[in-house]
Amino acid sequence: MRIAFLGKGGAGKTTTAAGFIRYVAKRYPYVLAVDADVNAHLKGALHVDGLEDAAYELGEVRGEIIEYLKGERTDLNGRDMVGTTPPSLKSNFINVSPTDPTIAKYARTSGDGKLALLTVGTYKESDVGGACYHVKLSGLQAFFHHLLDGAADIVVADTTAGTDNVATSLSIAYDINVFVVEPTRKSLQVYLDFLEVAPHLAEKTYVVANKVDSLEDELFILKHVSREKLLGLVPQSRHLKRFEQGKKEALEDFMKEQEGVFARVLETLKAKPRNWENYLASLRATHTKVCRDWLDEYYNQKLDDGLDSDFTYEKAIAAGKARQLIAV
Ligand SMILES: Nc1ncnc2c1ncn2[C@@H]1O[C@H](COP(=O)(O)OP(=O)(O)OP(=O)(O)O)[C@@H](O)[C@H]1O
Ligand SMILES: [Mg+2]
Repeated sequence: MRIAFLGKGGAGKTTTAAGFIRYVAKRYPYVLAVDADVNAHLKGALHVDGLEDAAYELGEVRGEIIEYLKGERTDLNGRDMVGTTPPSLKSNFINVSPTDPTIAKYARTSGDGKLALLTVGTYKESDVGGACYHVKLSGLQAFFHHLLDGAADIVVADTTAGTDNVATSLSIAYDINVFVVEPTRKSLQVYLDFLEVAPHLAEKTYVVANKVDSLEDELFILKHVSREKLLGLVPQSRHLKRFEQGKKEALEDFMKEQEGVFARVLETLKAKPRNWENYLASLRATHTKVCRDWLDEYYNQKLDDGLDSDFTYEKAIAAGKARQLIAV
C-alpha cells in the first residue's frame, strides 16, 4: 500500500506525513517512508531516533538504481531504461523489507530498525541547467514501478508542493493521495486545480483539513470538499508549537489530536487494494506519452519500442519476486 501527502507549500504535508508515519509505525512491523520533496524536511519532522546514518539521495544514484533494476532484461536492446520504463519479467524488483538490497543500500534506518527513509534529495550546483526535476525523480519513479508491495506493506511519501506530481509517473504510483489543505482559498485552490488537471485521479484523492480552529473554518472547507472526501480535521495545534519550543512531551499531545484522522486515513488506504493490471496499463500509457513528448528526443532513441509485452506484475509475483505476506 502506498500513500502520498500533497498540497500547497506550507499547508502541513511534512507534518502530517511524519505524524502518519509515526502512527503506522506503532501498528506495522516495518514502514517505508519516502521524502519525495526536493526540499527535504521529512527526516527533521519525524523525530525518530537513529535516522542519522549517511544516506544516498535517490536523485544522485538514479543511474545505479536503474542499472540494478534492469536485472537480466534483454528487451531494451542496448537502449536506456528511464524512470517510466515498465518492468520486464527479467527485471530485478524491490520489496518493502530491511533485507531488500535496494532499501538496505539506499535508505536510512531508524535505531529500532522499524522505519526506513528514502530521500530524493535536493538540487546540487551541478543540477542547475542540467538534469531537470523529472530526471531527478527518475530513480524514485523506477523504484516505485519495480516495488512489489502488498496489503501488508506500508509506504508513505511526503511530496513537493503544488501539482507537479501530475506531470510525472509518480501520479500513478500511489494508491491514494491525501491533500493537506488549510482553510484558506489559496490552499484549497491547489486541490481544486489538481482535480481539474487530473480528473482521472479524483477517485483516489482525499483531503485532510489542517490548522482548523473554528466552526467557520470547517464550514469553509465543506463548501468545497465533499464529506466523503474529507478524511478529517486537524486543529491549529498549540501542542505542536509547544513541541517546537522544546517541550518534548508535547509531541504525544499533538499525536492525540491527529489520531482520529489518521485512523480514517489508514482505513481509506486499506480499502483501496491495488489493481496491478490497471497500474501497468497506466504506466505503459504514461511511458509512451513521455517518450513521444520529450524523452525520445532527449535520449535520441525510441525508448518504448519492443519492450517485454508479456510482462505483468501478477506474473512477477507468481514467479516469487514478491514477499508473500497476508494483510494486517
Ligand atoms: N496542525 C498544525 N498546527 C499548528 N502548526 C502546524 C500544523 N501543521 C503544520 N504546522 C506548522 O506549519 C508549518 C508548515 O508545515 P509543514 O512544513 O509540514 O508544511 P509543508 O506543506 O510540508 O511545507 P513545504 O511546502 O514547505 O514542504 C510548520 O511550521 C509546522 O510546524
Ligand atoms: Mg514539506
